[in-house]
Amino acid sequence: MFAKISSIGLFGLNAFPVTAEISASQGVPNIDIVGLADQSVQESRMRIKAATDNSGLKLGNVKCVINLSPAGMKKTGSFYDLAIMTALLAAAGYLPKELDGKAFIGEVSLGGELCPVNGVLAMAVEAAQNGISELYLPYENAAEASVVKNIRVYGVRTVKELVGHLTGKALIRPTDPYEITEESYQTVLDFADVKGQEAVKSAIEVAAAGFHNMLMIGPPGTGKSMIAKRIPTVLPRMTFEESIETTKIHSVAGILSPKTPLVTRRPFRDVSHTASSVGLIGGGSVPKPGEISLAHNGVLFLDEFPEFDRRVLETLRQPLENRSISIARAAGTVTYPCNIMLIAAMNPCPCGNYGSQIKKCTCTQQQVARYLGKISQPILDRIDIQTEVATVRYEDLAGTVKSECSAAMAERIAKAREIQSRRFKGTSITSNSCITPDMLHEVCVLDDKAGDYLKLAFEKTGLSARAYDRVLKVARTCADLDGAELIGKPHIARAVSYRSLDRKYWGN
Ligand SMILES: Nc1ncnc2c1ncn2[C@@H]1O[C@H](COP(=O)(O)OP(=O)(O)OP(=O)(O)O)[C@@H](O)[C@H]1O
Ligand SMILES: [Mg+2]
Ligand SMILES: [Zn+2]
Repeated sequence: MFAKISSIGLFGLNAFPVTAEISASQGVPNIDIVGLADQSVQESRMRIKAATDNSGLKLGNVKCVINLSPAGMKKTGSFYDLAIMTALLAAAGYLPKELDGKAFIGEVSLGGELCPVNGVLAMAVEAAQNGISELYLPYENAAEASVVKNIRVYGVRTVKELVGHLTGKALIRPTDPYEITEESYQTVLDFADVKGQEAVKSAIEVAAAGFHNMLMIGPPGTGKSMIAKRIPTVLPRMTFEESIETTKIHSVAGILSPKTPLVTRRPFRDVSHTASSVGLIGGGSVPKPGEISLAHNGVLFLDEFPEFDRRVLETLRQPLENRSISIARAAGTVTYPCNIMLIAAMNPCPCGNYGSQIKKCTCTQQQVARYLGKISQPILDRIDIQTEVATVRYEDLAGTVKSECSAAMAERIAKAREIQSRRFKGTSITSNSCITPDMLHEVCVLDDKAGDYLKLAFEKTGLSARAYDRVLKVARTCADLDGAELIGKPHIARAVSYRSLDRKYWGN
């Protein structure tokens, strides 16, 4: 007796088609699972035996081999349960031997219920691409899979329900395709709540327009954290493709809420300074995504920047550069994307008041130097925009003047983004922050005055060679916000000013 059932495998973000083939005969009851199936897959035999028994479906005295093909790909995870069980039920005569165009994903419980699994979106996308027309999975995962077009999704609660449906006795209703609502883009925070701090807000505007990394330095209570939290409200809406990419990662990490099967708001990941490097960039025996990948297409916020373990911060260097992170483990290598906007915030010294015009710093020079020294030059080099956040003026706080709202800022940012979309059409680049060195001079063309100013800035202010590329990219964004084709002197001046803290605090 032979049967085969389609499923989808997953390792990291890589989904791949899998077929559960079963060859069964009468004999001493035994189930062998082959095809590089690890312990988590082997254990499915026990779960399935109990689940079918408790659903009143006797597998009988079968002796069988189940091959998860392609046999050369490692299989790990409990989500193969459903396909293996379906194959066994087909072999036992409860289900048809061929279930063409149908794929099965999910874990079964001993009692015969289906349990939700992680990573469903990546698997559903792969299923649709492989000509699967019906996907059967745990009920709780159905909304997530229903985001995928061209596939009919069946959310199944129990083993009995599945058998009833596949034998035509009691049909399950397919899940309605997911529709994105206007509400799913709305946020409650707004820049209108931030009084004063106009210079910081305009730096945020540049950062958001070019997707540049940014560092805010200032005394406690000046609104750094408050400002950072509002950055996603001015970023352009996520495209459907961006939503899918980010949702896949959240799904694999198991942080997707059943209420929001598709991530439509740009992520804002506020990471504690106690985070480990695994927590930040990902890891584990089957590598899970870290915060940097959970923030993909959004903001990674590192508050109290110098409080992070220095070695942990250093691990950010490579992923910030490559916008993806590859993690190699014995079980295989996994790559997670991390196209993020890094927003860091810090006090300039342990007491917080170094450089303040208002309060006196009580730290020694050594304490200040040690504190600032926790941020290495290579990390600083990856931050395009640095800005000071000064104490809010009383008039601003007490005044009734309404600050500009996020929507107004977002509108200007969206215009600058449209210019970038046209500029980078047909390339993998999505924003000015990702301009590659070979493109730099082609897209960052300066007018004469800007060129003279940049030369002067280099000679007079000792701007480092490393800062050069960054200044040009930020100036490009400033010009885009102005709708200017050539980069002018004010754009260069602004970009240079965003690098001045390097010298003020780190003495470069
Ligand atoms: N510009 C501002 N407009 C309105 N409220 C503000 C502003 N700045 C600070 N606040 C108020 O002060 C509180 C503290 O601000 P926030 O936590 O953002 O400061 P911070 O700069 O991050 O401080 P720390 O360095 O201690 O982390 C805010 O929740 C807000 O109520
Ligand atoms: Mg703060
Ligand atoms: Zn101090």
